[in-house]
Amino acid sequence: MPNGNEAFLTLEEIERVASDLRRRITVQPRVGLILGSGLGPLAEAVAEATRIQASEVEGWPTSTVEGHAGVLVFGRLEGQPVFVVQGRVHYYEGYSMPRVGLPVRVMQRLGVETLIVTNAAGGVNPEFVPGDVMLITDHVNLMGMAGHSPLRGPNLDAFGPRFPDMSQAYDRELLRLVRQVAREEGITLREGVYICLGGPNFESPADLRFLRAIGVDAVGMSTVPEVIVARHGGMRVLGLSGISNKANLDGDTVTTHEEVLEAGKVIVPKLSALIKGVLRRL
Ligand code: HPA
Repeated sequence: MPNGNEAFLTLEEIERVASDLRRRITVQPRVGLILGSGLGPLAEAVAEATRIQASEVEGWPTSTVEGHAGVLVFGRLEGQPVFVVQGRVHYYEGYSMPRVGLPVRVMQRLGVETLIVTNAAGGVNPEFVPGDVMLITDHVNLMGMAGHSPLRGPNLDAFGPRFPDMSQAYDRELLRLVRQVAREEGITLREGVYICLGGPNFESPADLRFLRAIGVDAVGMSTVPEVIVARHGGMRVLGLSGISNKANLDGDTVTTHEEVLEAGKVIVPKLSALIKGVLRRL
């Protein structure tokens, strides 16, 4: 039995999980969605839904964090066949980087071509306020730079090349679509660079000054590993951050997980409108 800590995944293991799911679903998903902390309610809008408990799927990494339900939802959103992961897993929970990427690998085996990732993030850009939504235009893969890559180990040639390009990790056409939807729906959209840190602690004021200095707009503990795996496998990616708190550069305020979940309530309606708008136009 895998315990989630082995270093690398094999094509056989990924395919085992994919075929387990294939047996239980009736529609082949085209779009994958991974929902961040407090953003789970989006999954409730899925029509004709088949809901599978992640814990019943052998090999699937299950979330241990409050605000992450651990349900795989197959169905339709705005008519598009979707696969929604409600309850992502993070590196800090103890899973290996490749296993954090397993949901995306399985999506790829199921034929998903477009990945929409959402997360809750701290606003490092001083203009951002809690409740804002930020379109991710690029990321800093700090953990990958330090060697913690989901692609570490033997390359899975069935998915993509040993040295994948990251010049356009976030699909330009999808960026254009989201901006258009935001304009039409009257939603104020921030844009910027996201960074994934290892967590689980929030940042110190000095950490945050460092992040600002290197050009980061929002900080979180997810998404980048999934995007790297998605791009390795040739998927188009759209990333949206819900700004749940202002990064505390001066050390005068405290960041809590409760505040992150609370801000999700303001963010969910905006994210839903943006994502549904994009799905309608795909
Ligand atoms: N830092 C890191 N991760 C986060 C934050 C934060 O301030 N808010 C939500 N996720």
